[in-house]
Amino acid sequence: MSNLEQTLSIIKPDAVERNLINEIKKIFTSNKLAIKETKKIHITKDEAAEFYKVHQSKPFYNDLCGYLSSGPIVVMILEGEDAVIKNRKIMGSTDPKDAEENTIRKLYGISIDKNSVHGSDSVENAKKEINFFFKNGQ
Ligand code: CMP
Repeated sequence: MSNLEQTLSIIKPDAVERNLINEIKKIFTSNKLAIKETKKIHITKDEAAEFYKVHQSKPFYNDLCGYLSSGPIVVMILEGEDAVIKNRKIMGSTDPKDAEENTIRKLYGISIDKNSVHGSDSVENAKKEINFFFKNGQ
């Protein structure tokens, strides 16, 4: 049975800065994740704090919000079969040093903070995160 889903993906400042946008997009599309929407933006620290609110009690929260707002990012809606879990497999473990071979974070991640990409961790959060960046489908 088919299970078409959408998920939110972010190419983080470290990867945008190193001109990895096209390489990373190619990894998604060659794994049958269609890019339905994409935009390059530069968010404020307050917006990053709102986006990462689930992590507000974590010791790394302040640095995380500072980092996501430190430079341009690319936010995308990815669509495909089991898109949420598929995107997480393609990204690899949060810490690039633990990431599996050929995952985005293994290929391009620098550190647990500068780990090149973010992806929604559940269908429920994907809906919230897509809505956060693409309110009227924009
Ligand atoms: P991301 O998938 O965007 O979700 C939250 C981010 O917090 C995560 O990727 C990491 O880049 C960052 N982070 C920093 N320190 C940690 C940590 N100790 N555990 C998990 N995530 C961390």
